[in-house]
Amino acid sequence: AIDLAGRSFLKELDFTAAEFRGLVELAAGLKAAKKAGTEQPRLGGRNIALVFEKTSTRTRCAFEVAAADQGARTTYLDPAGSQIGHKESVKDTARVLGRMFDGIQYRGDSQAAVEALAAHAGVPVYNGLTDDWHPTQMLADVLTMTEHSALPVERIAFAYLGDARFNMGNSYLVTGALLGMDVRIVAPKAYWPAASVVDRARDLAAASGARILLTEDVAEGVARADFVATDVWVSMGEPKEVWDERITALAPYAVTMEVLRATGNPDVKFLHCLPAFHDLGTAVGREIHARHGLESLEVTDEVFESAHSVVFDEAENRLHTIKAVLVATLAGAA
Ligand code: CP
Ligand code: NVA
Repeated sequence: AIDLAGRSFLKELDFTAAEFRGLVELAAGLKAAKKAGTEQPRLGGRNIALVFEKTSTRTRCAFEVAAADQGARTTYLDPAGSQIGHKESVKDTARVLGRMFDGIQYRGDSQAAVEALAAHAGVPVYNGLTDDWHPTQMLADVLTMTEHSALPVERIAFAYLGDARFNMGNSYLVTGALLGMDVRIVAPKAYWPAASVVDRARDLAAASGARILLTEDVAEGVARADFVATDVWVSMGEPKEVWDERITALAPYAVTMEVLRATGNPDVKFLHCLPAFHDLGTAVGREIHARHGLESLEVTDEVFESAHSVVFDEAENRLHTIKAVLVATLAGAA
């Protein structure tokens, strides 16, 4: 069994493969217990701060429901509702919150900020997304992959298409490398992860046996993949002006039925951390449609709504995996 009592969850690189797998296994157990009505609350009396400098649907709700299921309380600080970073330094905020709370979730742009919180809070800090990493999302994605594949994790092949320089691309590459998977990053070269991230992934792969492929060629990148994943082309915090260049550069990397067929795997599954732009159901979507004539961007509605798509299992798994992080770090057992 893994022992993560008192640990923060800041980025995948801080964990061994055994620790990461242990969290996914704990999540699977917690999920089964919740479904069976046998969940044991182990976080009674704990208080968890949820600091969000960027908006969220899944991450916030997952932390709130996970904490409630386990008997803990949460306090939500919204992007405008705290002094952090504006009137008060991250270091001071950390020392205040650390006096009141048993754990702190942080979402914002800066990985340095979440690391500083963890350095000064004296309690576990959880990265709920920065520009660099989305580690709790990776736990959910790996759990989803294990649920939808008969293969052991290290034999699963997945391809990530799209902007790979940001949190999701970085996290997929490093997580696949850590766990010994077959991981392909499929994007124009300018959208590949930074050389420092690729170097770390190659080091991990040397130890884990992971196969890493970075390619601009969609057919090569998705061949025989068990999972195809993508993410939004413009991330939170990026200016509106980048839409035009993004659409031009990434349009050939949109996940279409043709891309799924190119895997040669009739059982291929589609992953997306969400939110996704696949139809005209949002104001942003309608604006893009008016300007560019496009009805979807990173994934077509046909793929999103198809039997290949496991995106809502993936979204649900945010709850079970975040609960595993809370239980492992705050209840002291895994
Ligand atoms: N996938 C994800 O992090 O979703 P939210 O931005 O809604 O939390
Ligand atoms: N790359 C996206 C992920 C959202 C969950 C963003 O940072 O906005």
